[in-house]
Formats: sequence, structure tokens, C-alpha cells
Amino acid sequence: MSGKGQDRSTRRLEVSTPAIEAAAAVLADGGLVAFPTETVYGLGGDACSATAVAAIFAAKDRPAFNPLISHVESTKSAFALGVATPQARALADRFWPGPLTLILTRQPDCPIARLTSAGLDRIALRVPAHPAARELLARFGGPVAAPSANPSGRISPTRADHVMAGLAGRVDLILDGGRCDSGVESTVIDCSGDRAVILRPGGVTRDEVAACLAGSGLAELGPEPASANPDAERPASPGMLASHYAPRAALEMDVTDASPGMELIGFGNIEGAGAAGLNLSPDGDLAEAAANLFDMLHLADAGGSAVIGVAPIPTHGLGEAINDRLRRATTPRDL
Ligand code: TXA
Ligand code: MG
Repeated sequence: MSGKGQDRSTRRLEVSTPAIEAAAAVLADGGLVAFPTETVYGLGGDACSATAVAAIFAAKDRPAFNPLISHVESTKSAFALGVATPQARALADRFWPGPLTLILTRQPDCPIARLTSAGLDRIALRVPAHPAARELLARFGGPVAAPSANPSGRISPTRADHVMAGLAGRVDLILDGGRCDSGVESTVIDCSGDRAVILRPGGVTRDEVAACLAGSGLAELGPEPASANPDAERPASPGMLASHYAPRAALEMDVTDASPGMELIGFGNIEGAGAAGLNLSPDGDLAEAAANLFDMLHLADAGGSAVIGVAPIPTHGLGEAINDRLRRATTPRDL
């Protein structure tokens, strides 16, 4: 897969067992599949492949690496990836499969790519109810990262025609399952702490969530922090910077020569320097750099240097998102 935004020949198939088998094969090959869910069509890729996830961001022209929801087949699969709190169990039992996304702390052995969660330690998980989505997830056998299947800043798609209009040439296969029932995205609830917090209202209402928690004898919903939702399509507040991954070390951008003691992450012909000698993409490929970004920041941080430098990254295409995330990582967390 090239990872470029616009050079795919798009197949469109009506939902059938062979079509779902073909879609699972595309995912296994690192490709992109648009598929119906009960809320909106998702633009799916293998959540464990940073390369596939980078291709999702490129296809959508998403201006920043907002964390993506990983879709899984069952509650059991979800809790193998994210740590189940009592709140998470109660909400999952009541609303999954369905339009509910839970934010959970990643399990220590969670194979989801760090790019999928934009470098955060918490991951978003959803078990969709749509039969075609469920069959696709079962056949693929792993988590599928999927934002809504629309170019960034456009309306979410509820028909295969909408996906075709927005993403033709940017997705390998569109599974046409007719119209989505709901058209409203899933409710996103952070269940990683002591109290559940709604980060995005959606298909499951606040009253339904509150009733479920009360019925299970759990603490009521916590207040929604103004900075909770790092969703660039609906920016919450500049405070959202604080929720993004920042390394322990200080980070400097646009570094062409490593100073003594600095771990320099290279790009293109600016070689990496320091203990780890990392390079985001020796060939200067922005999709490859995007796929490597969060892993290399983690690796550089693990080396223990006080300062991490990053070589200049072009600002076009995925470079805009890479520079955006680097800028956020230079910003202290407690802004
Ligand atoms: O109904 C839906 O949720 C659809 C279908 C395709 O499943 N998906 C969808 O994805 O709406 P997207 O990418 O458009 O929205 C994902 C939301 C964003 O608001 C994002 O900020 C939030 O989930 N999110 C994802 N991971 C997160 C995390 N680790 N922490 C906080 N918020 C997260
Ligand atoms: Mg969206």
C-alpha cells in the first residue's frame, strides 16, 4: 500500500458474504475499507498497523492526528485491549453492541498502534451493532480503526453514495449496506477513571447512561472537562493541547544538528543522532513518518536524554498533522 491519499482504485460492493470476505482481505493487506455501521459509515484500516492508520489520516485530509475509535467484534475482545473498570463493564453490558464508545486505559500488551490513539495511553473502543460491520470484524479478527468516512470537515456519510462522493480514489473498497439507521455518531464516554465522563454526546443519551450507572450502583457521571474532546472537526478549546502525548524530555522542532546529549529524530537526509539513532523516514516519505511518529517519540523518551530534537518536517500533506502533533508535544501538559 502506498499510503498516499489519492491513488487508489475504489471498488464498491453490495454487502454479501463474498464482499465481506474481500473487505477483510483488503484490511489484512493494510488497505482501507469503508463499511456501514448503525451510526455512520466508517473508513476502516487495521488498528494495529500504523501504516494503515496513517493512510486513513491521509485519505481524510485530517488536519491533525485525532485519536481514532478501534472497532471490535465483542465486549470480550474490547476488554482484552483496554482495562475494564466497573463503569465500563456496566455500560458495555447495557449498550454493546451499539452506538457507544468507551475510552479505556490500554492493556500493557495492547497491540493497537500508538498512532491510532494519537500517542495517548487511553484507547477508544466500540462494538458496533450493524450486522455487516460485525461480520467484517469477525472475519478480519482484529481491531479496525475507523473515523467517519468523510473528508475532514465534511458531513458524516450515511449512504455508500456519500462515501463515493467524498472518498472515491482514496479508499480501496466500499461495502454498500444501504442507509445507516441512526446517522448520529456514537456517544464517547471516558471510563478510565473513577467516574465516567461523557466526552461526546451521541446515539446513547445522557439519561440512558445515567440510568445505567445508577442501576448498577455506580458513581454518577463526572463533569465534562472543557478540554475533554480532542476532535478537530469540532474543536473543544485550546486546552485540548494538554490531553495529548508529550514526552518526558523537552522537545525541540526543526533541529538540523544534534547538540551534545540530544536524541535527534531524523527525517530524510538529516540523520538521527544519539543513543537510538532514529529516523522517521530516511526516504522523506510523510506517510512513513506519520506511521513512525509516536513510536519513535516513545523510543527517544525511553533513552533518557533530557532533550529530544526532531528534524524539520515539510508542512504539506500529512506533514501538517506531524508538525501539529510535534508542536503539541513541545507544549507542557499542564497548560
Ligand atoms: O459512530 C461513530 O463513533 C463513528 C463510527 C464510524 O463508529 N466513528 C466516529 O469516529 O465518529 P470519529 O473519528 O469521527 O470520532 C472519534 C471521537 C472523536 O471525538 C475523538 O476525539 C474521540 O472519539 N476519541 C477517540 N479516541 C480517544 C481517546 N483516546 N481519548 C479521548 N477521545 C478519543
Ligand atoms: Mg467524524
